[in-house]
Amino acid sequence: WDVTNTDFYRPTYHFTPAYGWMNDPNGMIYKDGEYHLYFQYNPYGSKWGNMHWGHAISKDLFHWKQLDPAIARDTLGHIFSGSSVVDRYNTAGYGKNAIVAFYTSASEKNGQIQCMAWSTDNGRTFTKYSGNPVLTPFDGLKDFRDPKVFWYAPMKKWYMIVSADKEMRFYSSSNLREWTYVSAFGKGYGQQPNQFECPDFFELPVDGNANHRKWVMIVNINPGCLFGGSATEYFVGDFDGKTFKCDTDPKVVKWLDFGKDHYACVTMGNTPGRVVALPWMSNWQYANVTPIKQYRGANALPRELKLYTRNGQIYLSADVVKEADALRKESVSIDNIKADKKGTVRQLPDNYGYAYELDFDVTPGMSAETGVTLCNDKGEEVKIYFDMKKNRVVMDRTKSGLTDFGKLAKPHEIEANYDVHQFKDKNTKFRMLNSVNYQNDFALGTWAPLSLCEGKTYTVRLMIDKCSVEMFIDGGRIPMTNLVFPTAPYNKLKFRSADGKGSFKNVKAYRLAL
Ligand code: FRU
Repeated sequence: WDVTNTDFYRPTYHFTPAYGWMNDPNGMIYKDGEYHLYFQYNPYGSKWGNMHWGHAISKDLFHWKQLDPAIARDTLGHIFSGSSVVDRYNTAGYGKNAIVAFYTSASEKNGQIQCMAWSTDNGRTFTKYSGNPVLTPFDGLKDFRDPKVFWYAPMKKWYMIVSADKEMRFYSSSNLREWTYVSAFGKGYGQQPNQFECPDFFELPVDGNANHRKWVMIVNINPGCLFGGSATEYFVGDFDGKTFKCDTDPKVVKWLDFGKDHYACVTMGNTPGRVVALPWMSNWQYANVTPIKQYRGANALPRELKLYTRNGQIYLSADVVKEADALRKESVSIDNIKADKKGTVRQLPDNYGYAYELDFDVTPGMSAETGVTLCNDKGEEVKIYFDMKKNRVVMDRTKSGLTDFGKLAKPHEIEANYDVHQFKDKNTKFRMLNSVNYQNDFALGTWAPLSLCEGKTYTVRLMIDKCSVEMFIDGGRIPMTNLVFPTAPYNKLKFRSADGKGSFKNVKAYRLAL
């Protein structure tokens, strides 16, 4: 689709729909050289509602072409999130290599039930299975959604993992239509949410060792996260086709990103040799009222997930995929900087505008503030600093630009607020607003523990686009994703160190463009 952009804040190298509302990426699959992105989509407005599966394709995860919605809302309800698989062995009988998609139909009348559809034209169009639903909750659960289906080779069977209120349920099937309950995991584990959403489940080598593999369960939770609203956590453990056993104490919480705008993160199916995750770049606290009109919702950058060991625990790193290197245009190398309290300012070339990358290695010293502040001519800034007193890295967007946009929306215009979690199947007023203080919810510093990293020097990669700053430290051991709404480009970099001991090396900035 080609629509003239009328929005100031449309990102340049992040996927956004041409118009309409987008939330979760779902059903992503790689097949025959094409990445398919499906997503929660409202083609009729730029707020949540009328859920369809929107569709876009790409050969490199960055140049996306939006196609017609692939699965439209029907009499069973909204088409909620889910996943898809390539049926390599024709287990379902729709043909070898058919794409089979699973989604939740959601309505007040029928509740949340799992449905199936298949495509034999490379994911362009889907036929809904006439026997839908293929799975309903055995105990009438209200929150039962977002099916993730995967092939489990040792049992030669399909498995489905579904978020079921405060746990995840596993089911298995040999033909993708009939599903048998296997087990459940999650009660009492991790950050306990209102409910779990959008689970994912896959296997990865630990520290790159093919003989030491672990299963990872990603779950998205809302509300109740570290910085308020929605975020993504994960569990690492073993799976034997029957149960998932988590390695850690139930109380251990592992976050997949330490910003406020990383949610509904799930992985792309069928990507040989790597696991690629795609997050939605927003937070249910304010997703419906961001200062955007023609469309709403962007994805954060695609990330490659890997497992690494640190202090006897296994963690996921999430580093921007290697395809992002192709966004780099001109570059400027900046001299090594020994920073002090006052700061050293470097100006970026004018044509860098809103989209650039900033890389550096920082040795922070011992103070509470060593880092770089991205500043513009309007006095707006994003402060990124290492607080060695608290052993944290912080991104502070308190003065990043527009932060009180929520107040601009009249209360009756704000239709959705997931903090109350009601699904009323009306196109208007389907969720009630409880009071949200946008100033506090949006303008906020987020932080991550530096204990995830090793050594005293940190490698920082910042990816800045029109309305976002994504930080990846030490190859994605610390990923941090935050929206910002500056009114002019952050064209100045201010390197600072409160005790005068911090130093910056290998400082390089690239203009980024598709
Ligand atoms: C997560 C989510 C999913 C649901 C979808 C509805 O953001 O709440 O659980 O399927 O959004 O759009």
